[in-house]
Amino acid sequence: MARTQIIGTGSYAPEKVLTNADLEKIVDTTDEWITARTGIRKRRVAAPGEATSDMAVQAARRALEMAGVQPEELGLIVVGTVTPDMPMPSCAAVVQAKLGAKNAFAFDVSAACSGSLYALNVADQFIRTGQVKRALVIGAEMLSRAVNWEDRNTCVLFGDAAGAMVLAPTEDAERGLLSTHLYTDGSFADILCIPGGGTSKPTCEAVLKEKLHTLHMNGREVFKFAVRALADSTHTALKSNGLHVRDVDHVISHQANIRILEAVLQRLELPVEKCWLNLHEYGNTSSASLPMTLDEANRAGRLKQGDVVAMMAIGAGMTWGSAVMRW
Ligand code: ACO
Repeated sequence: MARTQIIGTGSYAPEKVLTNADLEKIVDTTDEWITARTGIRKRRVAAPGEATSDMAVQAARRALEMAGVQPEELGLIVVGTVTPDMPMPSCAAVVQAKLGAKNAFAFDVSAACSGSLYALNVADQFIRTGQVKRALVIGAEMLSRAVNWEDRNTCVLFGDAAGAMVLAPTEDAERGLLSTHLYTDGSFADILCIPGGGTSKPTCEAVLKEKLHTLHMNGREVFKFAVRALADSTHTALKSNGLHVRDVDHVISHQANIRILEAVLQRLELPVEKCWLNLHEYGNTSSASLPMTLDEANRAGRLKQGDVVAMMAIGAGMTWGSAVMRW
């Protein structure tokens, strides 16, 4: 069976920059607090009128251009997002139309910040079985529209962006996606959630008044969970491929918080230098973060053919996972 290879990457972030100093004017916070606790210095915020699919399309076009693939050649589009343009239809359907990818079937995957890793795993199945020859995987998130801008615990953390990957089969035994390991523990749903606006608490005046339609988080619990889960899943992913941490050339991770990443890398006994970092520039861009980071490392020429790349992500659910590939 053929393996899946990533043949193009792309990313996009809106123009508007929101610095920590800007946030000092909105909530009771300081640049020092945000930088020391999270490593984040800036984030991007979408313009009024800009929707998640617009960011997704920009990232997709860049990835398709790198891959030399026309939109009509795509057989599948999977978008990892929890902030679609609207509840129905999917963001992926909107993206399909905007790209003119008329031969692709398209759907969203809802796994919060793990969304693009989940989407990659889903698309990988279609490529390996031969059902699809070219797939587009996108992580696109506009959490600026989902956070409570009066809550300093959360609004300082997130930014808007999109990242994309074009997948194709390869017969090269030395390259491609080796495996993906995904996990979910729904019993931790309440430590990171948007409780209102769905069927359990439909949007109504009370929901809006209590801001239940915005993101709620128990930061300390998320932190503890993330460190343990990411280190464990990456160990499992490497071991299942007969690899050791010393074989890892690059870590491409969801960028939530520098302290989470440092703690995970310390547990894995991996030097921070192996991990591509951009959270200081963009904040936590949720499902966009993994493909965006991959795109930056790729365009910087850091990834050499055959390099071992360990990918990891964690998000609300809780959902998490790790993948290993040879570039
Ligand atoms: N500015 C100033 N003070 C703040 C801010 C802020 N932006 N936010 C919280 N504080 C205050 C709190 O109110 C608290 O004050 P108190 O002691 O008077 O009650 C104090 O800072 C300490 O709060 P803690 O929660 O103990 O701070 P902690 O060191 O845990 O850092 C943080 C908080 C950064 C949220 C941390 O818990 C964290 O990184 N958690 C992971 C959360 C995360 O990354 N979520 C992203 C989504 S999930 C994902 O992507 C995996």
